[in-house]
Amino acid sequence: MDKKIFLETYGCQMNFSDSEIVASVMTYQGFDVTQELSQADVIFLNTCSIRDHAEQRVLNRLRELQHLRKKRPGLIIGVLGCMAERLKSELLEGEDKGIRVDMVAGPDAYRDLPQLLVDAESGQKAINVLLSADETYADISPVRYAAGGVSAFISIMRGCENFCAYCVVPFTRGKERSRDPESILSETRILIREGYREVTLLGQNVNSYEWKSKGTGLIIGFGELLGRVASLDPRMRIRFATSHPKDLSDELLHCMAAHPNICNAIHLPVQSGSTAVLSRMNRKYSREDYLNRIDAIREILPGCALSTDLIAGFCGETEEEHKETLSLMEAVGYDFAFMFKYSERPGTLAAKKYKDDVPEKVKTRRLTEIIDKQQELSLASNQRDVGTVQEVLVEGRSRRSETKVMGRAENNKVVVFPDEGFSPGDYVMVEITGCTSATLKG
Ligand code: 5AD
Ligand code: SF4
Repeated sequence: MDKKIFLETYGCQMNFSDSEIVASVMTYQGFDVTQELSQADVIFLNTCSIRDHAEQRVLNRLRELQHLRKKRPGLIIGVLGCMAERLKSELLEGEDKGIRVDMVAGPDAYRDLPQLLVDAESGQKAINVLLSADETYADISPVRYAAGGVSAFISIMRGCENFCAYCVVPFTRGKERSRDPESILSETRILIREGYREVTLLGQNVNSYEWKSKGTGLIIGFGELLGRVASLDPRMRIRFATSHPKDLSDELLHCMAAHPNICNAIHLPVQSGSTAVLSRMNRKYSREDYLNRIDAIREILPGCALSTDLIAGFCGETEEEHKETLSLMEAVGYDFAFMFKYSERPGTLAAKKYKDDVPEKVKTRRLTEIIDKQQELSLASNQRDVGTVQEVLVEGRSRRSETKVMGRAENNKVVVFPDEGFSPGDYVMVEITGCTSATLKG
């Protein structure tokens, strides 16, 4: 049939991983994935609802895509993922605003895509936003259509039940469920055979991974899963994201210490440095609890890289509380951070319970202070690496220079260095000779 599908992914790594499931379902149905928008018979946007800004980007994109319908009669445009789940049939009713959507599919509805497509093609309402208590797509082999063949994601669980007050994810991705460890191990084995060098195990909260064996009744936790995956091939680098500070166990840290191929890098979102704000956020740990976890990491995994997520201007945040975030950043000395302005999401606990009362101007100023602080910390962290030798996994050519390649060190920092005939997937020992706050030069 030679029909073509164009996939565009927004948001987190989990969405990128889901798009590979979508590609698999569609390829099985006879579609080719194309990188050429103008050749697509079907366009799917896999979307994100985490902040209002993310949704606005998608809505603008949807508006912009409509002109393609003239050149491609019969073109189907579908919205998948978190926005599909949050806005549901509202998305099918936006034509008056210049946004015509033909299909809507939530994160647990991807097996249904072929049927939804048939419905959409016949002009029917094509929508499936049912969330499932057990869908993990464990038996679907992802089609790694956009990957460079070096690094891959494996999703090990879906959903989240933490209900952090600001967060829409528990509503868009549903109940937490873990995937059969055997299917995770066999997916890793396939990647090893195909020459991949790095896998990242993904989940909204990987520390609560739990699988109860049907035969023996034995429970496998994240530490054990991680150890098993890491033992498959010592040349395969293992990473994972994301950890929740409330259940990052010492056992997990010891497992990381025991396996040299598990990268010494932990992403541990703190969100705020103030115990009072953390409590309003329903994060279930205090500033002290968090700093205790950092001490445990420093003790068990000396030199481990640390990154975090931070939110500026959450409901009721005082100047004092904001300063506590800055002082916590300093105390931890993060190597890297993702930093955001609080954005109220309809339906969340915070939207129901608190006023979004920090003025926009104040939020912006606080975010700027947080970003400036992190730039200082990132620069200091990178400067500490100058003069060291790092094992770098080559990913490809540097974007800025024809004569250089780029890759990542174990600490997840990007390293750019002269190409001496290296190929993606090579491990190269690189002496770090300089840096900016964003990259290391070797
Ligand atoms: N506003 C701003 N940032 C948010 N995040 C999640 N929800 C919101 C929100 N409503 C951030 C958190 C989370 C990251 C993925 O996105 O820091 O860890
Ligand atoms: Fe959102 Fe909290 Fe779940 Fe992360 S742990 S997805 S921030 S509710």
